[in-house]
Amino acid sequence: MDEYEIDDKRSSIPFTARLIAHYRAMESRRESPLIVDPYAERLAGNMESYFDEHRWSRGTGDYAVVRTHYIDNYILTPWCEDHAVSQIVLLGAGLDARAYRLQTLKEGQHTIFEVDYDLINKYKSAVLRDEKPLCDIVRVSSDLSELSWISKLEKSGFSSKTPALWLLEGLVYYVDQTIVESILKDAAKNCADKSKVFADVCVPGLTQAQFGPFMMHFKWGLNIEDVPAFFSRTGWNVTCAFADAYDQGRDVGQKGLIFVTGKRDLSLLDTTGKLNAEDMLRRIPASEFQSFSIKFLKNVMDATGIIVEAYNDNPDDGLGSYFQFIDRIKPAVHAIIESLSDPLSIRHISSRLLRDPSTAVLHTADEKEAHIVGYLKALLFLGFCGARGIAGEHFTSTNVYLEGLKTIKIDHLSSLTQLIREEIDNS
Ligand SMILES: C[S@@+](CC[C@H](N)C(=O)[O-])C[C@H]1O[C@@H](n2cnc3c(N)ncnc32)[C@H](O)[C@@H]1O
Repeated sequence: MDEYEIDDKRSSIPFTARLIAHYRAMESRRESPLIVDPYAERLAGNMESYFDEHRWSRGTGDYAVVRTHYIDNYILTPWCEDHAVSQIVLLGAGLDARAYRLQTLKEGQHTIFEVDYDLINKYKSAVLRDEKPLCDIVRVSSDLSELSWISKLEKSGFSSKTPALWLLEGLVYYVDQTIVESILKDAAKNCADKSKVFADVCVPGLTQAQFGPFMMHFKWGLNIEDVPAFFSRTGWNVTCAFADAYDQGRDVGQKGLIFVTGKRDLSLLDTTGKLNAEDMLRRIPASEFQSFSIKFLKNVMDATGIIVEAYNDNPDDGLGSYFQFIDRIKPAVHAIIESLSDPLSIRHISSRLLRDPSTAVLHTADEKEAHIVGYLKALLFLGFCGARGIAGEHFTSTNVYLEGLKTIKIDHLSSLTQLIREEIDNS
């Protein structure tokens, strides 16, 4: 499409959607295809120049095709047969064209919600503008790592009273683990009883590969025996199997990717672990929020001192104590973010706070230092804003923000904590 481009260089995760569409198009041309997607070729667009540069990516895309086949036949068809009225939510919908091609959607009254980046949605709407879907379709533009995605879905007409089938197809390994936990938890808490989920998950080994158009973006994985417990914590009772069990004779690798299916069960939702931010916060009355922030800030300042010292003695020790600390502080960060009426306003302070720092891939000494400095700074800023009652939008006009701009090396952190101390004492 000329108007909207999904470029491999500028936006490489969205580009995976084009590759998957390309594999579905190739499959559709085979003699006995597992799936036929008449829209895939147009959606993928011309991939020749990409494959000229990335010959090793050409492949057959067997895994994507097997997964599409599995969902069409084992998940969606029975779901539509069992529900006269339903909602189907595709999280990371990419260039999926089921709404146009899957005949089973014509039976009953189903609404498909396609959630993806605005870029993908605009491109897809432009390519398919003259086509008629087989069921109602609503495109929701959202970055799923932003906490507001669920309210955007609800504002688009999603109802917590109608059963929902959630499909996380080719998504979870691209998004930080804590964010996936929060997505699954939000989904479980905001949908009707008898709702179901499908997701595919990779094993940890695949995240080490760091090559190929898909795996280079893989952030995290789970061993198959840990999958049920992970989903339980987020309110889903699941079973799982390696994709190999459904491979239809195709090459889906060996025990690297896992199909997970299950139903909503809020009784399993973890109320003690790190996902318990809201419950934690409920225990902090509004009147005590400021003193909570002051304690938080004090904690971060103390830890910053210790980490800087350890880092100067030996960078590896510093990195170790930094990771230990952020693991401990994670629930508090969640609690603060979730307490905001507009969680996204945290971005004015630092968008790093919306990501899980423990999954960062750090190779060089400079990357390690920059990572520690960046995240500790974000925590200091957060504590400072809470303690001084400064709204995120006004933070950029404070001295602390301006000093923070200078803080690039780890040694600068001490002058930043010193300044914060003075600002708090003077307020
Ligand atoms: C590998 S594609 C799979 C697309 C589709 N589910 C399919 O199977 O054809 C991954 C999709 O997830 C989307 N995605 C990844 N991270 C996302 C995020 N944080 N927010 C919204 N969409 C995201 C990408 O834009 C892309 O469309």
